[in-house]
Parts: sequence; structure tokens; C-alpha cells
Amino acid sequence: MNAGVLGTGHYLPTKVVTNNDMEKIVDTNDEWIRTRTGIEERRFAEDDVNTSDMAYFAALNALEEADVAAEDIDLILVATVTPDTPFPSVACMIQDKLGASKAAAMDVSAACSGFMYGMITAKQFIETGAYKKVLVVGTEKLSKITNWEDRGTCVLLGDGAGAAVIGEVSEGRGILSFELGANGAGGKELYQDENDYLVMNGREVFKFAVRQMPESTVNVVEKIGLNKEDVDYLIPHQANIRIMDAARERLGISADKMATTIKKYGNNSSASIPMALSESVKNGKIKDDDLIVLVGFGGGLTWGAVAMRWGR
Ligand code: ACO
Repeated sequence: MNAGVLGTGHYLPTKVVTNNDMEKIVDTNDEWIRTRTGIEERRFAEDDVNTSDMAYFAALNALEEADVAAEDIDLILVATVTPDTPFPSVACMIQDKLGASKAAAMDVSAACSGFMYGMITAKQFIETGAYKKVLVVGTEKLSKITNWEDRGTCVLLGDGAGAAVIGEVSEGRGILSFELGANGAGGKELYQDENDYLVMNGREVFKFAVRQMPESTVNVVEKIGLNKEDVDYLIPHQANIRIMDAARERLGISADKMATTIKKYGNNSSASIPMALSESVKNGKIKDDDLIVLVGFGGGLTWGAVAMRWGR
């Protein structure tokens, strides 16, 4: 039995904040942000919109695209580093709002790799036959944990949510291979401090990401007997266009074969991969039977990738 994506969804906060707006908050400028990161603008959630609200809207969108009723969901996995509260989990909050009464629910903590951890966990439950439908969500209100005095991080981050319904797909399609990893010794490079702010050693994270993303991509395609040349579409974690382009160039993948949402949304941590996936589906960038690689990295340090043959 193969697990794959039955439907995708995302939610974008309405408040658009440009680089020029950021100049009013911190000592920075549009040129620096664009050339160093690729970011032109980002979205911030309104004060009364919390992480669970964005998760709920993204989940509704995914259930609709999948044509799956909330009551048929067996498990909800929510990846986030910015839950409304440590408990109850965001997963329990949206279980209630969606009316997914039979679903078990828990949050997954793997920072920007959280959606990958969630998706790969979902795959196990589907392929053992334990569950039929799993809702996986990545959702972040990073503006809650942003240090507005740290220009090295505050210009990078944005809010948003993405979701996917995972279930059984036809033979030869779905998630064909995966890789998950962690290096706890690198925890000091990217963490939340005692003031709840996100703290990052940008250069170290940059080096780690540029190495890890191509390596994990090659690993997942080689596990299914294919090569990097066979990848039709790459959906990397949207952290910095220079990291994404470096990874893409190492893999020999052309720019039109890579999802790029960072320009408009910045870095959305665990939400960035499912948001980019959902947008790519809706924009017709992904066709049935395309070989798609999703690859992420983040705090922990953690990383994860899947190779997937698209279609139900
Ligand atoms: N505006 C203007 N100048 C700035 C800004 C800013 N926003 N931020 C830093 N600078 C300055 C620095 O102070 C430094 O000045 P100095 O040379 O006078 O000291 C100069 O720009 C260069 O700074 P660097 O840190 O060397 O810049 P770099 O080219 O490394 O880019 C960046 C920094 C964008 C953070 C980069 O290191 C990066 O993208 N790292 C990886 C980030 C990442 O992947 N994060 C993912 C995990 S976080 C998450 O996903 C939630």
C-alpha cells in the first residue's frame, strides 16, 4: 500500500509587509534583504489570528481539494514552533474546529523540518494499514517569536500555514522514499532563547543547509534507483534564495523546476514546504506522475526529505 498526497491547502495572512516597511522597524534596506535573501515582502498575521486559526484555514483548503470529510480523518499531525499554547496542542484545537471527531491529534516539534517529520510519520500509519487518512499541517506565527531589534533574523520571517491530506494512492504513486535526520549537537546554531525570541547563527545554518539539502535530495532519489536528473520538481524549505539556488545548482536542476515562494512570503519555518506545495499544485506546476522531491532543514538541527511520484 502506498501513501501519497490526496489534497493540499494553504492560508496566507492578509497583512503584507514590504522590505521598505521593514526599514521603518530596523536598520536595514530593500537592496540588502533582496540580494542576501531573495525576500521582497512577507505576510504577518493580524493580532487576533493565531497559529491554530491559520492551521484551520489551511486544513479546510486541503480537505476540500482532497474531497475528504473532516469526520473521516484518523490522525492530525501539526508541525509548529509557535503553538498558541504548549498545551492543548494546535492539533487538538483544529480537531475541535474541524469537527474531526474520530481523529487522534498531536503536535510535532522539529522546527522547519516539522512538516517533513509529520508527512513521513503519516506515511507509516497509512502503509501499516492502521489509519486511512492523516491530516498534516505546518503552521507558524513567527512574528510572535521575532526579535524586532535583531536585523539578522527579523527581516527573514513570515507567518502562514500549509496542509496536506495523506492517504492511500495507486500503485507506483505516492511517497516512494524518505530520509529523516537530526544532529542535536547543532542545537546552539538555531534556537528559542529565554525571551522566547528566535536566535540564529546565520552563517553556520547557511553552511549546514547548502550541504544537507542536495545530499538528502540525492539520497531519496537514489533509494528508488533514480538519479538527480530524474527530478521533475523540487520543493525546498524556503529559508534563503541563495541556499535554495546553491542546492539547486549542485543538483543540476533548472530554476523553473524549483518552487520559490520566499520572494513573497519570506521564511515560514514548518509552513514553508506545504505552502509551496499547495501553491505549486494550484498553479499547475506539478503534473501526475512527476517525480517531486520535498526537502527541508531547520532547528535541532533536523532535516527531512521525500521523493514522491505525484498523483492519487
Ligand atoms: N540589513 C542590513 N544589513 C544586515 C542585515 C539586514 N537585515 N542583517 C545583517 N546585516 C549586516 C551584518 O551586520 C553584517 O555587517 P558587518 O559585515 O558590518 O558585520 C553584514 O550584513 C553581513 O552579515 P552576514 O550575517 O555575514 O550576512 P550573510 O550574507 O551571511 O546573510 C543571512 C545573513 C541572510 C541570515 C544568511 O546567513 C542566511 O540566510 N543564513 C541561513 C538562514 C536560514 O537558513 N535560516 C533557516 C532557519 S530559520 C527558520 O527557518 C525559521
